[in-house]
Amino acid sequence: MKHELETFFKPKSIAVVGASKNSTKIGNAALKNILISDYECKVYPINPHEKEILGIKCYKKLSDVPGEIELVLISVPAKIVPQIMKECVQKKVKNAIIISSGFSEAGNNELENEVKDIIEQSKIRVLGPNTMGYKNAADGLDSSFVFGVPRKGILSLISQSGALGIGMIYLANNEFVGISKIIGVGNKIDIDDDDLIDYFAQDNDTKVIGLYIEAVKNGRAFMNSIKACNKPVLVVKAGKSEAGARATSSHTGSMAGSDKIYDAAIKQAGGIRCRDIVELFDMARALAGQPPAQGNRIGIITNGGGLGILLTDACDANGLDVPKLSPKTYKKIDKILPDLVKPNNPIDLVADAGFYRYEASTRALLEDPNINGIIVASVHGGYARPREFTGAILKMIRERKLHEEFKKPILATWVGGKEFEDLVMDLKSAGVPIYPSSWRTARSMLALYMEGKRIKREMK
Ligand code: ACO
Repeated sequence: MKHELETFFKPKSIAVVGASKNSTKIGNAALKNILISDYECKVYPINPHEKEILGIKCYKKLSDVPGEIELVLISVPAKIVPQIMKECVQKKVKNAIIISSGFSEAGNNELENEVKDIIEQSKIRVLGPNTMGYKNAADGLDSSFVFGVPRKGILSLISQSGALGIGMIYLANNEFVGISKIIGVGNKIDIDDDDLIDYFAQDNDTKVIGLYIEAVKNGRAFMNSIKACNKPVLVVKAGKSEAGARATSSHTGSMAGSDKIYDAAIKQAGGIRCRDIVELFDMARALAGQPPAQGNRIGIITNGGGLGILLTDACDANGLDVPKLSPKTYKKIDKILPDLVKPNNPIDLVADAGFYRYEASTRALLEDPNINGIIVASVHGGYARPREFTGAILKMIRERKLHEEFKKPILATWVGGKEFEDLVMDLKSAGVPIYPSSWRTARSMLALYMEGKRIKREMK
């Protein structure tokens, strides 16, 4: 059976109430975004004063539209919204997005409750108010008024902040993280985080779910949706500090609540708490392309001792173990290393390490049942050969047979300058999870470990 939000994300017909010829207005941008979408559907501009907008026939009101409307975007001043919602209900519209601001976020609770009452007496599903809408990159539909074209991928993002949601589109593009859907939930009058988690859990185009939240309205439903979700759920929860919580209430009109309670609840439900949105993208990149870690034992390979120690500390601080090498692996690594150095974990390949040392030692750790995940690092020191390091990473990560046989994640990290940066861009664009800091690498490995634990729990 199809999920009830299927017609919300993949509507066959869309009307824009408040569509305008004026290119500075939101109703113009929203209509334009639908028209430039690579998506087949009927489109109906609604405006009482126009006959045609952007070359399409315009209707005076929703009831004039022939046939069914599956989604309505509303971009008229807040005080007219209750009337438009009544018209939506009369027309038996399936879904609506209220872009308009001026509701509870502005202290206008009465107006928001009026809209809520109309919704509750019908079957319509409503996003917002005070929302940017959504972009469904997987199907090519843009039901938002904001610009920005996401790279297509498998991360679906839910944002309580519209502006941050837009920023995340650009950041994801820069980080080569592909988006399936991105949606601003606004004041969550009806469609809430838990509805969307449920939808994305069964959505074939979504592999990882990410959220930016300031507060949840129904804690139990939120937790249950994460618990029931068969995919990793990454959560950035803002308002941790007292000052942050104060800022939350003036931003979206919501109460941030006790951070400790949120933290424990997210963990208990099986979600992964991220410190910020950069960390969310780091973790998403790892989860998108790498198998989960079956345990917390990590093998580290480096050409710089210092970076190896930093990685070890970062792993330890995140509950990841960096165990001694097994005698069998010790022997294998001993043959790979130059005579003067002895194997350890972290394995120091020495500054001049090239393709062979990196590739052979990674392979040895893949074959070691005592190791659940591998971090491969390079410092651009005097003798270092970044091209050989990146070549080895690319080979190991791309070799599908290795993934199928060993099912172990490989992450990479580096410290260096411009030459390295260009090579790293190539790796990132090929989907390789590579990070410019030992901490970010360890946190991403933690996400893979937590995902491994979640899957084990699911299979019990
Ligand atoms: N049915 C259809 N259209 C109507 C109706 C009606 N009953 N009544 C008026 N209209 C038309 C108007 O005539 C106008 O069209 P026109 O340009 O041809 O005259 C159009 O609807 C829009 O109405 P305006 O009164 O011009 O309103 P405006 O476009 O200036 O503002 C808006 C409306 C955008 C909804 C504004 O009130 C608002 O809330 N802005 C903030 C939106 C926002 O930021 N949302 C949060 C997003 S999240 C983030 O931060 C990114």
